[in-house]
Amino acid sequence: MSTVLAGYGLVKKYGSTTALAGVDVEVRERDSLAIMGPSGSGKSTLLHTLAGIIRPDGGQVLLRGERSEMGVPPAEGWGRIDRLGENRLSALRRKRFGFVFQFGQLLPELPAEENVALPLMLEGVPRGKAVERARRWFAPLGLEGLEGRRPGQLSGGQAQRVAIARALAVEPDVVFADEPTGALDQNTSAEVIRLLTSVTRASGAALVMVTHDADVAAHCDRVLHVRDGRISNYSQYTVA
Ligand SMILES: Nc1ncnc2c1ncn2[C@@H]1O[C@H](COP(=O)(O)OP(=O)(O)OP(=O)(O)O)[C@@H](O)[C@H]1O
Ligand SMILES: [Mg+2]
Repeated sequence: MSTVLAGYGLVKKYGSTTALAGVDVEVRERDSLAIMGPSGSGKSTLLHTLAGIIRPDGGQVLLRGERSEMGVPPAEGWGRIDRLGENRLSALRRKRFGFVFQFGQLLPELPAEENVALPLMLEGVPRGKAVERARRWFAPLGLEGLEGRRPGQLSGGQAQRVAIARALAVEPDVVFADEPTGALDQNTSAEVIRLLTSVTRASGAALVMVTHDADVAAHCDRVLHVRDGRISNYSQYTVA
């Protein structure tokens, strides 16, 4: 499996707090990577840095298939994304990345299928076509029949599955999830994670997920443990 996204020597400071103290991480195609660690250890900072939401103070974030800002890629077919201008960076995030957060990412006034279609419409896909493409994600995520429901008419687990569909709709290279089941009970959480990992893998995207829950992390191919802004341990799971 080849690498699609990598961070090398990542450092991030907030005043006197060092959130990332020099982290190296490579995300491979179709790979799922869980990030675990105590509260405040730097998990969300690492995820947001890899996703181009937070700019590191040191180190580099490299994405395959991007050209470097200076026109000189660090390696053939790779580009540094941590120094891109805000407009290019947000366009890149919309096109190449998908995001699933704990809750509250769906627009309450839109039916589920339009929530899923929204990222496509932002990319210029006409509404009808976008909704048609959005609907294709409902069956694989066990959401058939719920296309017309508004978020307020969905259970927590259903809403998170709609959020997963929304993240996958643009067919991103990497899906980022920060505590995606943090607001769900254990059984619902297990089902959502099973679908998140399997449907993301089937789509061809890689998954980077922050979680506190070892049962959730066990669904991923690899687990990275963070402590005080450093990687304390890297483990490899074999997922059936
Ligand atoms: N915007 C910010 N301003 C100041 N300090 C911050 C900011 N964001 C994070 N930090 C600090 O950086 C450190 C790492 O935070 P981060 O959110 O990455 O931790 P985390 O591992 O995701 O924790 P949790 O499990 O509680 O979500 C913490 O000490 C936190 O207080
Ligand atoms: Mg966090």
